[in-house]
Amino acid sequence: MINIDELAVFCKKKGFIYPSSEIYGGMAGFFDFGPLGVELKNNIKAAWWKAHVHDRDDVTGIDGSIITNPKVWVASGHVGSFTDALLECSKCGFKTRADHFIEDKLHMDTAGLPLKQIDEIVRHHKLKCEKCGSQFRDAEGFNLMFQTNVGPIAGSVAYLRPETAQVIFADFRQVTDTSRLKLPFGIAQVGRAFRNEISPRDFIFRCREFEQMELEYFVRPDQVHKCPYLEEFKAYELMVYSAEMQEKKQEARNMSVGEALHKGIIKTPWHAYWLAFEHAWFAGLGVRPERLRIRQHLNEEKSHYALDTWDLEYNFPFGWKEVQGMANRTDFDLKQHIRHSGKDLSLYDEDSKSKIVPQVVVEPSQGVERAFAVFMLEAYHDDKKRGNIVLKLNPRLAPFKSAVFPLVANKPELVKKAREVYSSLKPHFNIYWDQSGSVGRRYARADEIGVPACITVDFDSLEDDSVTVRSRDTTEQVRVPASILQSVLADFLSGRELNELGKAVKSG
Ligand code: GAP
Repeated sequence: MINIDELAVFCKKKGFIYPSSEIYGGMAGFFDFGPLGVELKNNIKAAWWKAHVHDRDDVTGIDGSIITNPKVWVASGHVGSFTDALLECSKCGFKTRADHFIEDKLHMDTAGLPLKQIDEIVRHHKLKCEKCGSQFRDAEGFNLMFQTNVGPIAGSVAYLRPETAQVIFADFRQVTDTSRLKLPFGIAQVGRAFRNEISPRDFIFRCREFEQMELEYFVRPDQVHKCPYLEEFKAYELMVYSAEMQEKKQEARNMSVGEALHKGIIKTPWHAYWLAFEHAWFAGLGVRPERLRIRQHLNEEKSHYALDTWDLEYNFPFGWKEVQGMANRTDFDLKQHIRHSGKDLSLYDEDSKSKIVPQVVVEPSQGVERAFAVFMLEAYHDDKKRGNIVLKLNPRLAPFKSAVFPLVANKPELVKKAREVYSSLKPHFNIYWDQSGSVGRRYARADEIGVPACITVDFDSLEDDSVTVRSRDTTEQVRVPASILQSVLADFLSGRELNELGKAVKSG
């Protein structure tokens, strides 16, 4: 697997991602998505929305604003405690994120360490500023929220949201009043989030502006141990790394969802169901299961709102890291907003004829950029035999679904025929036209940006009205009548084998 810096170079070279405002020197933690990047990112979000909202009867969506009344963030606890530990050099003022600094220097796990313990470690191991070698001041909590002012009034402080989740809680009353949802149900949202990270790093893994795809799943308090959908995933295998396994320095272990629940490793069937659902979402889009695991937070690592948290982790080139957080937030957020706003956010329960505050049994919270990195790392293949990179993205995620080539560019009748083929497909798929260089070069260029199938129009096409379709992953080629090309391409993109869809031809 390539390392993360090589991925950054590749993404820039091919037009997926650039450092933001690079002509002015860029800005750490901010990125711009280029022509291919925006397509891949949109396809990731569309695939997430389809699986989490459109394909389900129990989830609806919203799109809230980035800046809200700042009281939202007081109630949620972010103003008070959304901090990372900061180490500052007493001489040159160099600042670094304490846990990452200690991890890098001492290769020890620092998840959730309190400030006092950080200071003890720094003193015990005589850790010094890496810029000037001086001592650090005592570690401090640094709030990650970006502040701004709203309107021309001084002191009208507001915040760029550090997560999309709170907007879902703040809008809970309006959503439940205007939709026909009955518990259990979920409210989903995809949108930007901002964190003033102390040290953004590892390309798009840790940025200051990113997007989240989040879902708050609400359940009646007396139903937290009853998940009607569990059966679907009981036999599903996950690599599990519980808090106990971490404490006992054991290895993560493969087990079925049923076993993890039976042994009390995963506490609620809802948590188990959503962990498997999210794992299956990644696996269904081409991520190898052996590179995914679920890891339970240690007690000291849990956020202030969480009863139990599991992360879906991916084995990145820089180690196992969180791609998705799945916390059991209980009724913490709704109750906080009830208390701070003075509004009734409870629901009337027909069965018990009483008002209840639902429990958020699980909040699958996924960063779009981290998913982007995972899909790119999984897709990237340096094919030595072909002599080019092959980006094996799942066809649903691929920026371009196909490309149309006239075999040669200097034969007007061939170009005319190829243009007809191109125009017939363009309204249905995101495709492009390429007539420059040899066909071999055009295939290589298409492989490198993940085009699942290329279509070549040749001299035989003028006689028999058929075209050659070539698979990115296998280089296999088949001959297909132009009249059925649209349905053949649709079938191929949805997973059918190319040799089932046309007459095999010798690949060249
Ligand atoms: N609402 C819960 C929440 O925001 P989180 O674990 O802080 O939980 C959820 O964030 C997800 O958002 C992470 O798993 C990650 O995918 C993404 N994320 C968080 N901080 C990020 C950052 N600085 N850069 C890129 N993605 C980030």
